[in-house]
Amino acid sequence: MLTLGIETSCDETSVSLLRGENEIVANLIASQIEAHQLFGGVVPEIASRKHLEILNPLLAQLQRECDLEWRDLDLIAVTHGPGLVGALLVGVAAAKALSLAARVPCVAVNHVEGHICSTLLQQPDLRFPMLCLVVSGGHSDLILMRAPGVYARLGRTRDDAVGEAFDKVARALQLPIPGGPNLEKIARDGDDRAFKFGVSNLEPSFDFSFSGLKTAGAQAAKKHPERVADIAASFQRAAVTQLCQNIARAIHEYSIEEPIQTLGLCGGVAANNALRAALQEVARNHNINFVVPPPILCTDNAAMIANAGRLRWLRKSESERKFSVAQLGFEAHSQLPVA
Ligand code: KG4
Ligand code: ZN
Repeated sequence: MLTLGIETSCDETSVSLLRGENEIVANLIASQIEAHQLFGGVVPEIASRKHLEILNPLLAQLQRECDLEWRDLDLIAVTHGPGLVGALLVGVAAAKALSLAARVPCVAVNHVEGHICSTLLQQPDLRFPMLCLVVSGGHSDLILMRAPGVYARLGRTRDDAVGEAFDKVARALQLPIPGGPNLEKIARDGDDRAFKFGVSNLEPSFDFSFSGLKTAGAQAAKKHPERVADIAASFQRAAVTQLCQNIARAIHEYSIEEPIQTLGLCGGVAANNALRAALQEVARNHNINFVVPPPILCTDNAAMIANAGRLRWLRKSESERKFSVAQLGFEAHSQLPVA
């Protein structure tokens, strides 16, 4: 099965060709970071305009590199939310046009489900139930995945996403964007116990809260502008500790009725090595399998969208799988819960 993925929910334009369940033939990602750098964050209108400028050339490049005719595709999968609506509309319009022109069926994909399904690109035969932490610039969700398409959200952030906290503290430390990766880099030179940042605990819920930590990190940056590495390291440690603490508790509580088989980690912040190592340790301590995709599949990419679309497609009946114009009735949504 040959699936085309299209992703334009934020500031990365990406197209990918997936063969079968996890052979990534191509995964092209055009970052718009330079266009937004001047403004210190993603400007929605600029994001939409850049997607419009880049998407067609990127699709043409994919065709060239993969020697691909559109009619050879079995499926087109496109992100339709959550994300910046103007940005999403560019990918959605392109996918619908291509679907109509080539008469290839099209399926709309939830971006968060895309991130979750990046773990299945890494390990297609992973065992369920999987407790999956989705951490990005917009999300910090703890999801219990019982099977593809069967999700329960155990926890979410009550305020900021952890990636947003990384980005804001990086900005207060006057690090260039992308904030998260640059904060991680500088944190390697710091003492992670130099600053005692509080770790939120919203027990008995599995929810997270990062706004207090974000403010504390930004205030420390203002007060001690010379201690960039120590603040970065201490902030990162507090953020990772909060994530690990809830996960360990969830594994314990759920193991009574429905033992967790796999711990998954995905989303842009999953590229963070401190977080990867800490969760690996949690999984080892609980004797469960740990799956995290390589960093390039953690940050936004269309390969994960192709995989989520493919799995969604396989759950449809034979008649639903034929190309039809009715399939193209979907819209773009800024908010779109996965569970
Ligand atoms: O999944 P993603 O590419 O886009 C969204 O869906 O939001 O995630 C982007 C987020 C940003 O907040 C970025 O700073 C963060 O992921 N990020 C990191 C790292 N790499 C990306 N945060 C911490 N450490 C990293 N190495
Ligand atoms: Zn994302």
